Amino acid sequence: MSQSSECARPHRRGFDFCASAVFLCTQRAQSVGGCAMRGCPLLLWRPETCQNPAPFCRGFAAQGFTAVSVVSRAVTKTTFFDENLIERVLWQFTMKEQRANAIPATCRYARYSANPTPTPRPVKINESDRTMNFEEKIATHYGHGNLTAAIRSGLQAQGITPEQASVEDLGPVDEFHIGGRAATVHFFDQIDLSETSKALDIGCGLGGAARYAAHSFGSQIEGIDLTPEYVETGGALCQWVGLSDKVNLSVASALSMPFESGDFDIAYMMHVGMNIEDKRALFKEVARVLKPGGTFAIYDIMRSNDEDLVYPVPWASSAETCCLAGPATYRAALEEGGFVVRQENDRRDFAIDFFEKMKKANAGQKSPPPLGLHVLMQQTTAEKIPNMIANLQAGRIKPVEIYAVKQ
Ligand SMILES: C[S@@+](CC[C@H](N)C(=O)[O-])C[C@H]1O[C@@H](n2cnc3c(N)ncnc32)[C@H](O)[C@@H]1O
Repeated sequence: MSQSSECARPHRRGFDFCASAVFLCTQRAQSVGGCAMRGCPLLLWRPETCQNPAPFCRGFAAQGFTAVSVVSRAVTKTTFFDENLIERVLWQFTMKEQRANAIPATCRYARYSANPTPTPRPVKINESDRTMNFEEKIATHYGHGNLTAAIRSGLQAQGITPEQASVEDLGPVDEFHIGGRAATVHFFDQIDLSETSKALDIGCGLGGAARYAAHSFGSQIEGIDLTPEYVETGGALCQWVGLSDKVNLSVASALSMPFESGDFDIAYMMHVGMNIEDKRALFKEVARVLKPGGTFAIYDIMRSNDEDLVYPVPWASSAETCCLAGPATYRAALEEGGFVVRQENDRRDFAIDFFEKMKKANAGQKSPPPLGLHVLMQQTTAEKIPNMIANLQAGRIKPVEIYAVKQ
């Protein structure tokens, strides 16, 4: 891709996207200057050609231009004209880079325009614009940027092509909860999943548990998640392992699910409640989509004392987006939502044992395995996992399973 062939190319999907409003940047920093001179208010960055967008942003600022935005390939490919999603991604990028001081504070994002003759209008961001809503913060926390490619290269490092990949091959990276696949096996052993079950995976992430359930029990699984990139990558993984007909993943909030009342026989959620403050509203919504007599299974990290946590942890960078509650709060909210709690399993010992085994397995290894949760959390893994283990060992948190039935 070169600057001359990409710059000012009009996009004509959906509506006539003005040529000068879009700039697909290349690896060359001078592209930014060219972009500014053409008056492009929107800079599209393609991760595969430019791993580090910071120089572009600096170049942009050097031109005295204050509007810069970046969209990942994942977004341009599928939902390019979804303005809300574009706004969200732009916002995520801008905030993330500014937090890391990678771009100057004068570098802002601009809304894109479908106007055929746009004039660049630098946007002055005031404090109220800076307020991402809570769910956007969650999606930002989990966003990666280039996740499908990262998983593909992890497979390739093991000599596996995406078409050859199995549900087992993906297990180390697509089960984002304490205990990974072993925890999922234990969890599902206590639910009656079968070929005739229609089950809902709430906060499905990449859909690892959903694929395991579809593969092992033949069940039909709907997964919903707030993080668009997880849903997109999860969809690709379903295709790779040939489970797209059994597993469908979509972007939605657990607090307002796009399903009819009484649609599901079973609902489950694994390590999601830690990001949802209002457990009562959550369980009420789950009860709505379940049939009477339907099972709701939870495997969440819960509070076991009132001490402050050490952050960051895998589900939250700070206390701001951490919504831990104790098992008693879960039980009360479930009962209020119309559930009867049948069983509760404290999984602390399992978790301690899991991390000890992991430590032994990693001892002496020069580099991490090709696929693992470090692929999702990238450089933050080195802080998040030890902090989670420290919180667990100090008795502040523990994983718990709860099984309930809708009245
Ligand atoms: C730690 S990951 C667990 C993912 C998956 N359940 C698993 O075990 O592999 C937490 C997931 O919950 C999702 N999530 C958090 N709050 C949510 C909400 N209100 N609605 C839907 N998904 C949510 C996040 O986007 C993230 O993918």
